[in-house]
Amino acid sequence: MKPTPIAAEVVNEVIDAFGIRPAGKATIRELVKIVNDIEGITGQKFIRMEMGVPGLDPTFVGTEAEMIALRQGVASKYPNIEGIKPLKEESARFIKMFLDVDVEPMHCVPTVGSMMGGMAAFMVVNRSDKNRTGTLFLDPGFPVQKQQCLVLGHTYGSFDIYDYRGDKLKAKMEEEIEKGDYSSILYSNPNNPSWICLNEEELKILGEISMKHDLTVIEDLAYFGMDFRKDLSKPGTPPFQATVAKYTDNYLLLISSSKAFSYAGQRIGMIIIAPELFKRKYPDLKRYYTSEKFGHAMIYGALYALSAGASHTAQYALAAIFKAVNSGSYNYINEVKEYGVRAGILKAMFQKYGFRIVYDMDLDEPIADGFYFTLSYPGFEGSQLVEELLYYGISAISLEITGSTRIEGLRACVSQVRREQFNELEERLKCFSENHPIPK
Ligand SMILES: Cc1ncc(COP(=O)(O)O)c(C=O)c1O
Repeated sequence: MKPTPIAAEVVNEVIDAFGIRPAGKATIRELVKIVNDIEGITGQKFIRMEMGVPGLDPTFVGTEAEMIALRQGVASKYPNIEGIKPLKEESARFIKMFLDVDVEPMHCVPTVGSMMGGMAAFMVVNRSDKNRTGTLFLDPGFPVQKQQCLVLGHTYGSFDIYDYRGDKLKAKMEEEIEKGDYSSILYSNPNNPSWICLNEEELKILGEISMKHDLTVIEDLAYFGMDFRKDLSKPGTPPFQATVAKYTDNYLLLISSSKAFSYAGQRIGMIIIAPELFKRKYPDLKRYYTSEKFGHAMIYGALYALSAGASHTAQYALAAIFKAVNSGSYNYINEVKEYGVRAGILKAMFQKYGFRIVYDMDLDEPIADGFYFTLSYPGFEGSQLVEELLYYGISAISLEITGSTRIEGLRACVSQVRREQFNELEERLKCFSENHPIPK
């Protein structure tokens, strides 16, 4: 074996001890453990691209508000499950300012991150009709959401949306909906991992399909406003973050503070329930909850059972962050734009050494530079490529675990790669390409 930047014996030993071969078949958190173990033994730092952890400081207004709330003693009090008043009010304002959609504070409810928002959504939507318990995922996607469906005993289906963009989407959706007993559709926009951004035409198709087939759309906005090709940062001023909420009455929005506000550690997000859906009655919900009303079942059934609300101080933090961005005194996009800049540099570097971008187009435009990008290398399947790159001190996840049909690919996350590491990455990629020459 040719020498590699990380000692091959150590990489082999750690992967064998873990017992998953190729290592690219592992989940995100399993890969984190494998890389931590290799770093621990060798003392060498990896270029870590496997997990979507924010690489920026938390939003200052959030941490300040949280500390004030803590000093005022909120830690001893259970927070209201519906959420504290200022957070509900600023959330509704945020939805108006940045999506141009009208909801009332009552429709905005805090969750322990969007992870819990997803879980609660499945627990209510997929139980609202006893004959329909499934979610149709527009893949590629965030793998753990399927895990949530599995642990709840719900069924799911999926297809890779990349081949069905634009006007091809309608026929494909109709075809897929026929195949399963679905009650919900889920996608993220911008998309983790491919970074495609569904446009107004596509969201209109999804909205119309949702109304026609009575399906609830769970729109995951974990990367809110992060299509950096447009300036989505000005409150109350177009363009707005595109949303299905313009095209259907039957939606749930998952708003995460993790990436947009670098607030992942405090596990705070919001679920926004469409006003029409909030008041709708589903007799089948009574099998699980005290009320047949959707909004009531969500709050006093699902969210109560899950955690009885979201951390009190984190709610104060998010209320303060929303207030600052809604009033225009804090421009959050200016902070996270850094990810796009890094992505541009990193993509060019990988391509220089023979890698290719897998999801390379967003309809007729090149894919935007954002939080993730996708890569392949001639002669490798994604999960093997993930394993091989470990010997070069680079970690990523395979696209296979995201429901992608592009199994040759992997997902790389830019957030944790610091500019000081660029030279080291370049040396490692050079070594990789010399050890794996591409046949002419
Ligand atoms: C598409 C998507 N949804 C949800 C989440 C989870 O968000 P949160 O940290 O708010 O639970 C992530 C995090 O990576 C994500 O990528």
